[in-house]
Amino acid sequence: MTQQSDTTPDSVGETYDVFADAGTTTALGGNIHVGYWKEGQDIPITEATDQLTDLVAGRLALQPGQRLLDVGCGNGVPALRIAQAHGVHVTGITVSSQQVARAAELAEKSAARDEVGFLFADAMKLPFEDGSFDGAFAIESLLHMPDQTVALAELRRVVRPGGRLVITDLCQRLPFTGEDRAVLDGLLAVYEIARISAPDEQRARLAEAGWQLLELTDIGEQVRASYGHSAAAFRDIAASLDPPTAARITAAADLLEAFGKHPHAGYVLITARRP
Ligand SMILES: C[S@@+](CC[C@H](N)C(=O)[O-])C[C@H]1O[C@@H](n2cnc3c(N)ncnc32)[C@H](O)[C@@H]1O
Repeated sequence: MTQQSDTTPDSVGETYDVFADAGTTTALGGNIHVGYWKEGQDIPITEATDQLTDLVAGRLALQPGQRLLDVGCGNGVPALRIAQAHGVHVTGITVSSQQVARAAELAEKSAARDEVGFLFADAMKLPFEDGSFDGAFAIESLLHMPDQTVALAELRRVVRPGGRLVITDLCQRLPFTGEDRAVLDGLLAVYEIARISAPDEQRARLAEAGWQLLELTDIGEQVRASYGHSAAAFRDIAASLDPPTAARITAAADLLEAFGKHPHAGYVLITARRP
């Protein structure tokens, strides 16, 4: 549907390092993902982002002592939250060295410090043995990967039979066309996103990589408020930055806000099982 073919793990890592230096990746309490609001709920974005993590954890069918892989772990905030709440061990991987350092720093201060580990690794070439994990989750990370099917096949390899994979990601309900296409292309470029997929593309890739789909739900309306909140936080941060970085962060804020207002902008919550 939409491609940003020159995105690579290196370019994604560099972009996250720039955004981390600018302070945007900790702007919303350290999670680098949207918030989730239940119907009629009025909670701040910082709580709503944790609530999205809890939604993911709920789909993983966790048992204490299990080993989980967090694919694209950001600052480590979701991994630490899940490890602490469910008594599981979480290994987080990311292609940003700043994020590995930040996650390790946060872990040091956490009661769950012995239950997490963070390392620099590419999801398309996982440095783990077959069947090393009881389950895996990928919160807004697959969209950065040039070959999501390869990443999904790697995840199938390292998750044991019967284990679960939970994914959340931005999606295109219908293609962005005409002038709207510029918003989408801008968003892909500024965040080094390889692709924002349609739900059917997600289904096809999971099947191709050998996953059994249990659930795919569009929760786009429950996360929509996030884009405006994030854009406002980015603009606040931009006010204190040097002019070139401020321009980049302001452009990112404008694109995020425009995407979030678009009716074709959805957000999928996917649960799959390793046969
Ligand atoms: C939007 S952030 C989400 C971070 C985290 N899941 C969260 O919710 O706070 C995307 C994450 O995916 C990671 N990522 C992107 N491509 C990756 C790849 N090929 N292998 C591993 N991680 C990747 C980035 O480094 C970043 O940590």
